[in-house]
Amino acid sequence: MKILVINGPNINMLGVREPNTYGNLTLGEIERKIKDAASTDVIVSFFQSNHEGALIDKIHRAYDEKIDYIIINAGAYTHTSIAIRDAFLATKIPFIEVHLSNVFAREQYRTESYLADIALGVISGFRENSYILALAHILSINDKLK
Ligand code: DQA
Repeated sequence: MKILVINGPNINMLGVREPNTYGNLTLGEIERKIKDAASTDVIVSFFQSNHEGALIDKIHRAYDEKIDYIIINAGAYTHTSIAIRDAFLATKIPFIEVHLSNVFAREQYRTESYLADIALGVISGFRENSYILALAHILSINDKLK
């Protein structure tokens, strides 16, 4: 099984960026934790970009590469990007929307998502564990939980 973890704008700034909201771990440290949580027969790959088009291109390539599931933290594009939504509608790759912070406990504009209603589900507010919980779900539905 192939799982792709996509992170959007400003997620590369984790560790520096608003630690009270997003925690102290860097993106590299979070990616290591995700890798460690996956069983060895699962291929997990990672992608981060600050550019909407690059994120869309990556979702299209994931279709060509037959990626089974995507875990995505689209950052602020979650709340704005019809184009990323359309990329998921086009490719039909099942995905889980994740957020480090609890977006529902923050500004009103962060409670809107262009992805949530077409996602398998949304996990928000558990810092880096949001990614691990998403992975656990994907592994469990494939009966491959470590
Ligand atoms: C975020 C929440 C978004 O509202 C914000 O723009 C981010 C990070 C999160 O992980 O909590 O960049 O997606």
